[in-house]
Amino acid sequence: MSVNYKIAIDGPAAAGKSTVAKRVAKALNYTYIDTGAMYRAVTYAVIKAGLDPQNEEQSITVLPGMSIDLLEDDTVLCNGEDVTAVIRTPLVSGNVSYIAAMKPIRLALVDMQRELANKRSVVMDGRDIGTYVLPNAEVKIFQIASVECRAKRRYDENVLKGIPTSMEDVIEDVKKRDYIDSHRDFAPLRQADDAIPLDTSDMTIEEVVDAILKIVEEKTGVKA
Ligand code: DC
Repeated sequence: MSVNYKIAIDGPAAAGKSTVAKRVAKALNYTYIDTGAMYRAVTYAVIKAGLDPQNEEQSITVLPGMSIDLLEDDTVLCNGEDVTAVIRTPLVSGNVSYIAAMKPIRLALVDMQRELANKRSVVMDGRDIGTYVLPNAEVKIFQIASVECRAKRRYDENVLKGIPTSMEDVIEDVKKRDYIDSHRDFAPLRQADDAIPLDTSDMTIEEVVDAILKIVEEKTGVKA
């Protein structure tokens, strides 16, 4: 029987985790799982239903029967609807931390995430993958970068996608999410004791990917 390896990449908002995780997954031929997209999809569903994303009692009513599919080509489906673009808009980004702080929502999504990781080798990025979702992951990376650097990356990403934003708004959003994500009661953003920290402020994407692949090889013997 072949082994299913789990690579966990955690870190604060806009640290470049998804770009890196996607490339690492491709190099290893593993499945990339963007857990942030799942919290964003729930946030979108809550807003679309006209509910208040700061109200837990209201927000959890979208959970029963909800489906979230992460497709190979990065398309995100929520109840069959293509939400790939809308989940990156400021309205969703500005509310997702409230949704991600709700325990019943986290428990539902963590179940889905663990089920996905049981079936195949995965590279999973998020905030609590190494500490809570996959505590036995063979490789745990904690990817950080300065607030300015992260805001600039997110700003450039938005420009590229045609999403109108100002640099000030992006900095505020990144700071606000850092605070809420690391101060929530349940499974907050935190470096796992056995995670390897990687400050990517002065690194190119290629350098980060290479560094992670080297760690994967050292820890598992798996070569890209
Ligand atoms: O990585 P991202 O910016 O797409 O994540 C969106 C939000 O979801 C972020 O504010 C924190 C939350 N999140 C989380 O709490 N746990 C995860 N495993 C992934 C994301």
